[in-house]
Amino acid sequence: MDKIIIHGGKPLKGEVTLSGAKNAVLPIMAASLLVGGTTHISRVPDLRDTRTMIKLLELVGAKTHLKGNDLWIDSEHVDTPVAPYDLVKTMRASFYVLGPLLARFGETKVSLPGGCAWGPRPVDYHLRGLELLGAKVTLEKGYIHAKAKRLKGNHIRFDFPSVGATGNILMAAVTAHGTTVIENAACEPEIVQLCQFLNLMGGKITGIGTHKISVEGVKELSPSDVSVIPDRIEAGTFLIAGAALGEVTVLGGEPGHLKVLLEKLEQTGAKIKISGKKISVRKSDVILPVDVTTAVFPGYPTDLQAQWIALMTIAKGDSVVTDTVYHDRFSHVPELNRLGAEIQVSDNVACIKGRKHLVGAPVMSTDIRASASLIVGGLMAQGKTEISRVYHIDRGYEKIEEKFNSLGADITRLN
Ligand code: UD1
Repeated sequence: MDKIIIHGGKPLKGEVTLSGAKNAVLPIMAASLLVGGTTHISRVPDLRDTRTMIKLLELVGAKTHLKGNDLWIDSEHVDTPVAPYDLVKTMRASFYVLGPLLARFGETKVSLPGGCAWGPRPVDYHLRGLELLGAKVTLEKGYIHAKAKRLKGNHIRFDFPSVGATGNILMAAVTAHGTTVIENAACEPEIVQLCQFLNLMGGKITGIGTHKISVEGVKELSPSDVSVIPDRIEAGTFLIAGAALGEVTVLGGEPGHLKVLLEKLEQTGAKIKISGKKISVRKSDVILPVDVTTAVFPGYPTDLQAQWIALMTIAKGDSVVTDTVYHDRFSHVPELNRLGAEIQVSDNVACIKGRKHLVGAPVMSTDIRASASLIVGGLMAQGKTEISRVYHIDRGYEKIEEKFNSLGADITRLN
């Protein structure tokens, strides 16, 4: 099984070009199923998750062609609207095909995802939303069976602005009869891009980027081309590593997507410089402790919680990190503690006592962002850190060793 070996304590300096955002490309790929014809997506990150989605698209009958970071999806002959357990269990975002397959075929079976490393992660908002659009939704042998001749627009209000549920309902509602209003909708940049893409296909979506989105159902859509937005979580991961270890510039970023992170980094004493799509961070001699509470966009992202905790382990003083989006998302904490960090978790709150340094050790990665925090921790630690189960990192970060090594890190992979 793959392992990553890090010889830590090396300063980082240089520039990294960002990849396209995983969480933006996955729903766009699912949306390509809404209509026959070819969708061309550029800036597709080459990740385990994008490959899983390609596999799923092919299983339902689409033809795909991936060349570098360009992907063509021909959905003309999609004829098997079923998403099997084997794929959905490896990537929850497979659930995104539920909305588009139901909208196009009037019937679909998609495996229920089940739990994951950070808690139960239910899909009740997705299902309740589809029912409000007139679908009959039943659970059959672990599969969600959804049926509706033609979905009908309705008023839907989520209890929490769920990214996945907003995406699924948008894709279901875009060709529904009448108007759908989604209240307490997610307004993450990845959802904004999905809305824009659906509009390029002929959809009529307004209120984009707000918590109240309106979708006027259209009869027909046509395939469109799109270039994926930069990955703000990848950007944040490199900037946090820079704030710990030197001077890092990310290229092709969207500073507006990273506002709260950049403010928090400045509070640690780091210097931030923004010039167009170029964002640089320079560490301060003393890293000040800064508390963080995750929230939906534009708040501090839960997907950068683990990396922030890693940075705070070497701050001069104590800090508190609270996750209000996912309450159980702390599987990286015991692993960071193996590197000598002093972190205690109680409910959804992590208290971190800053240490002078961490010391390398064998650790295990448990999910995508936890793995990223262990890489940041390993880079900061003195000596050798060995990270096992690195397939998690490959789900969400393109060429991560290559990118960190170009900054002066010493990371190798053992197969
Ligand atoms: C997406 C992202 C993930 C990110 C998360 C929060 C993708 C592929 N994944 O996940 O990286 O960490 O947003 O920004 O884009 N909830 C329910 N019922 C539901 C749906 C959600 O109770 O039906 C709850 C969840 O348990 C969680 C909160 O809502 O507490 C937010 O989840 P959600 O925004 O749906 O996350 P995902 O779309 O799964």
